[in-house]
Order: sequence, then C-alpha cells, then structure tokens
Amino acid sequence: MEKLRFGVIGTGMMGCEHLRNLLPMDDAVVTAVSDPNDEPLDWAQVTMGDRWSTVTAFRDHRDLLASGLVDAVLIASPNHTHKTILDDVLATEIPVLVEKPMCTTVDDCRTIVTAAKSRDAVTWVGLEYRYMPPIARFLETVRAGDIGTLRMLAIREHRFPFLVKVDNWNRFSRNTGGTLVEKCCHFFDLMNLTVGAWPTRVYASGGQDVNHLDEVYGGERPDILDNAYVIVDYDNGVRAMLDLSMFAEGGRNEQEIVAVGDKGKLEAAVPGDGYLYLGRRADRSVTALEIASGPVGHVGFHHGASYVELRRFCDAIRGIGPVEVDTTAGLWSVVVGAAAHKSIDERRPVDIAEYDL
Ligand SMILES: NC(=O)c1ccc[n+]([C@@H]2O[C@H](COP(=O)([O-])OP(=O)(O)OC[C@H]3O[C@@H](n4cnc5c(N)ncnc54)[C@H](O)[C@@H]3O)[C@@H](O)[C@H]2O)c1
Repeated sequence: MEKLRFGVIGTGMMGCEHLRNLLPMDDAVVTAVSDPNDEPLDWAQVTMGDRWSTVTAFRDHRDLLASGLVDAVLIASPNHTHKTILDDVLATEIPVLVEKPMCTTVDDCRTIVTAAKSRDAVTWVGLEYRYMPPIARFLETVRAGDIGTLRMLAIREHRFPFLVKVDNWNRFSRNTGGTLVEKCCHFFDLMNLTVGAWPTRVYASGGQDVNHLDEVYGGERPDILDNAYVIVDYDNGVRAMLDLSMFAEGGRNEQEIVAVGDKGKLEAAVPGDGYLYLGRRADRSVTALEIASGPVGHVGFHHGASYVELRRFCDAIRGIGPVEVDTTAGLWSVVVGAAAHKSIDERRPVDIAEYDL
C-alpha cells in the first residue's frame, strides 16, 4: 500500500501530538510541516527524530499546499487562522482534518460547510472526544437503549486554566471564538451526537471570575470566560447541560457525563476508573460496565482519541471508512457555543432559529 504523505500546518502542542500519532502508522508518512515561527519548527524536528530527514519545513501553508509533497493535511494552527487556511485548502482536492473549532464564528463555519460540499475530497473536523474509550462506550450504551429513552444529559468539565500558547493567541476571545466555542465545542458536539437531534434553544450564565485577571498582553487584559452553566434544549424534547469550571484542578475527574433515560441512568468519567455505571430504575441496581480500550499506537494528551481519529481519517481518505466528523458536525458544535456566549452577553435565552442555518 502506498503511504499517505501528510503535511501538518502549525506545529505547536496539537500539531506535535498529530506528528506523534502519525509516527507509528505503517501506512502514513510525514513529508511536510509549516509554521511561521522558529520554535515550533524546532519542536517538530525534535518530535520527528531521525524521521525529520523525510520532512520539508515551510513558513507558509500556501507553499506547503503547492509543493506537491502531500496527499493530506492536518490544520493545527490557532483557531482564528483556520478559516483562511481552510479557504486555501478547500480550493484544492487535498483531504484535510482541521482542528476544532472548525472556525471561530457561525458565519465562517457556514461558508466552510458550503465549500467542503463543492469538492470530492475528505474534510474532517478534529472533534475527537467521541473516541475516548469511556465516551465511546457511553455512546454505545445510550444508543443500545440501556437507559430507555434519553431525556436528560449533563456534562461537567472541571479542570485547570488554559495553558500558555504560542504568541498567547488563546488569551483573547477574538482569536479563540470564546471559551464556549474554543473549548466547549467538544462538549456541544458530544451533546449533539448523544441526543441525535437539533438544538433549538440555549440559556447560559458565565463569566471570567478567577483566571488570567492579572495578565496583560500588549496593554490588554485577557477576556476569556473561565466558568459557565449552559442549558441546551433539543427538538426531540431532550434537555442537556454543561457545567464548566476552569479553576477546579483538584477534582477526581476532568470530565463527567451523565445520561438519564426513562428506564435508567448512565455515568461515565474521564479519566475515570475503567468502568461506566449503569443504574436501573426498576430494581434500583447499579452495574459496573468495564471499558475495553482498542489498540492505540500513541496515547498522547487525549487518552488515545486523537490517534483513533487520525486512523479513521486515513481510512476515509482511502475510501474504506466513512467521514465520521464532517463540517456539519463542526458547524453545529460552534453554533451551540456561539449561542451560549450570546445568551451570556445579552442575558437572555437564544433561539437557534436566530441563526440563518
Ligand atoms: N482536539 C483537541 O483536543 C485540541 C487540543 C488542543 C488544541 N487544539 C486545537 O489545535 C489548534 C492549535 O492549538 P495548540 O494548542 O497546538 O496551539 P499552539 O499555540 O501550541 O500551536 C499553534 C501553532 O500554530 C502556529 N501558527 C500560527 N499561525 C499559523 C499559520 N498561519 N500557519 C501555520 N501555523 C501557524 C504557531 O506558531 C504555533 O506553533 C487550535 O485550533 C486548538 O483549538 C485541539
């Protein structure tokens, strides 16, 4: 089998995670990277080790795209650069996986959905939480009907503050799309996927109460929200909520997800203890379901999920698997986050119908 030649655009934290995921794959090879900054290119070189000899480094993604060196690209540059880079990639027939969030605004996401439809190549959005072993088993169990008909879904993320990024791009909402887009598109994607219906209304309360208050960049204080409650109504009557705190390093789990149906309740946690807990109303029993994890070439920062995502992306490029996370999923994960920000800013519930979708 011919190896797929990969180009990685943006070689910071996530770009290097993708490089580490690609290294153990027999059917893929990294042939190019691009990053405008020196230090991330050094990180890429260190990550690739003696395989760096197969890689050409560019400063500009347009030169990488024109080089003829790549069969597929991964975009792992800051959120606010995704739209411009996607415009250039989608003008070609090169398959692409773009990191989340697909773009920072709903309008830009809509443009990308249309552009992706106008070509034949795979366009995949990096919403990989669905591949974390506890979450994959959670989705499977809900879909199997083990809790009856789903009525309520609660996701809690209690974690550490945003990390420091190259040029501190993640300190300002104009670059990230806002915390509920940047970080929480992962959770809104999981909600949309678990509920399997369209979100109709979003109510949220949130603020920046603890983190980054004493930081200043170019005379400006960061404006990124660090905690929120978000409630989402779906058109099948299911209610979902997100509880986000980014000053909660001390918890047992970073993420907890609970689904309640008319027959039972299912609890999952990341990292968790290797089990899901399934409760049944009929006899008030709670059963521990063991989580089997599949073979993973590299575990990385995301419990193996970003490796699984790349494997499936490769299969989709080769036509032996579906595009599992398409631009429509990318769009709707951003829509809910954007509506939540709007709800906070305007202190009111936001109907999704307010967006022209
Ligand atoms: N899927 C996930 O769970 C996950 C986790 C972390 C980050 N991300 C996403 O990955 C992307 C990168 O985040 P990160 O944490 O690696 O940030 P980072 O700051 O560590 O890396 C970003 C890199 O992009 C480079 N860059 C800036 N402009 C560029 C351009 N025009 N072309 C190419 N490279 C450019 C920067 O120099 C830097 O090296 C973001 O979209 C982020 O939301 C996803």
